Amino acid sequence: MVVFFCAQSGNRTRTILLSQDFESSASTNSAIRAGASLKTDCKFKRKSGNCKNKPLSLHSMLKELSHITDIAAILSQESELYVVYDKNVAWVADQLPAGWPRLELETSEEAKTLETVARIERWLMACGATRGSLVLAVGGGITTDMVGFAAGIYKRGVRYANFPTTLLAQVDAALGGKTGVNLDGYKNMLGAFRMPEYTFLSADVLRTLPSRALLSGVAEMLKTFLLSDGEAYEKALRSGPTQEMIRRAAVVKEDIVARDPYERGERAKLNLGHTFGHAIEHEARMRADDITHGEAVAIGIILSAQAGESIGLSEKGLAQRLARDFAQVGLPTQCPYPLQSLQEAMARDKKALAGGLVRFVIPVRPGEVVFHEMNPYDLHFDTK
Ligand SMILES: NC(=O)c1ccc[n+]([C@@H]2O[C@H](COP(=O)([O-])OP(=O)(O)OC[C@H]3O[C@@H](n4cnc5c(N)ncnc54)[C@H](O)[C@@H]3O)[C@@H](O)[C@H]2O)c1
Repeated sequence: MVVFFCAQSGNRTRTILLSQDFESSASTNSAIRAGASLKTDCKFKRKSGNCKNKPLSLHSMLKELSHITDIAAILSQESELYVVYDKNVAWVADQLPAGWPRLELETSEEAKTLETVARIERWLMACGATRGSLVLAVGGGITTDMVGFAAGIYKRGVRYANFPTTLLAQVDAALGGKTGVNLDGYKNMLGAFRMPEYTFLSADVLRTLPSRALLSGVAEMLKTFLLSDGEAYEKALRSGPTQEMIRRAAVVKEDIVARDPYERGERAKLNLGHTFGHAIEHEARMRADDITHGEAVAIGIILSAQAGESIGLSEKGLAQRLARDFAQVGLPTQCPYPLQSLQEAMARDKKALAGGLVRFVIPVRPGEVVFHEMNPYDLHFDTK
């Protein structure tokens, strides 16, 4: 099956190819990492007794699906399973076994709150969910963040699994165990690290995703390759978010998280483009402009390259090249705000360090980034 998405960028229409061949490949139905020391792999193999002494890794069990209904087979050993899903993907939840109790949520950043989490908890209690339960989140990053958090505190923690239905959640939000909710309008103010038991990947569920939301995920996918793998970056630019590229991006994130689960070092690389990106989102909120997270990250990556070039860390011409690449896939590349307003926002960012320093992730070339701490007011270049 091949699906075309038309992405609007300004007054141009660009086409992203989302190619999926769900019928053909036997390999797409297997765990992503054959032989990986994963918890659930061990559970299955333990019966034949050949896996007892393998170390457990921090990885969640990434599963690539040929069909949505494969989930039922994979989870067939679970005795208690509860599904919490986003109303906008009810069509996905409808394909799961009818016997699994389910709760529908209307999701938005405003509803990503403790009140919604309490609703999930009360529902689990009313269903009589025990500590042996597994809660399956079906939806985008808002759903997986909230459900992961709700599962993490229900009866002091039950297991959960993610079935992300946005590209952004497939390559980012649903991986790595960061869960949480907003508080009084402050994003992700409450939360906990808690690894999902499984993360199910299916490009099939993206077919109803609006093109702008898809593009937002494309920005995060390109970011992941820019910081890890230049060849994959080139390939993703050409192919768009195919099942293969989604899987590769997810594996990159899972690998980084496995080495640095609590963001004490390397994991911060995943913030490439986000320091500028958050400042852009902040400005957009102040001015009631409409910019998605992925769009802000795309522009933020280009600005990081400009910053890197201005201090001699990035390859010459990188910012221009990235702008050309991003424009090709339909992402915006022009920062609508002056550097000065971004500097103020970056200085106030919750991740800012002591002494007015900010830790930037600077792209050196596709596939390589470095950390650089500096005062954002020491940046001098034109954002327009
Ligand atoms: N935990 C993490 O590490 C992490 C990382 C990045 C982002 N996040 C969080 O993720 C959230 C953003 O995630 P998101 O972009 O997936 O947002 P989202 O969950 O709001 O989904 C975007 C929109 O698409 C709809 N939708 C979802 N899947 C769909 C589908 N297949 N077809 C049609 N509509 C669909 C949703 O209902 C929503 O309206 C933010 O709250 C952010 O804080 C978390």
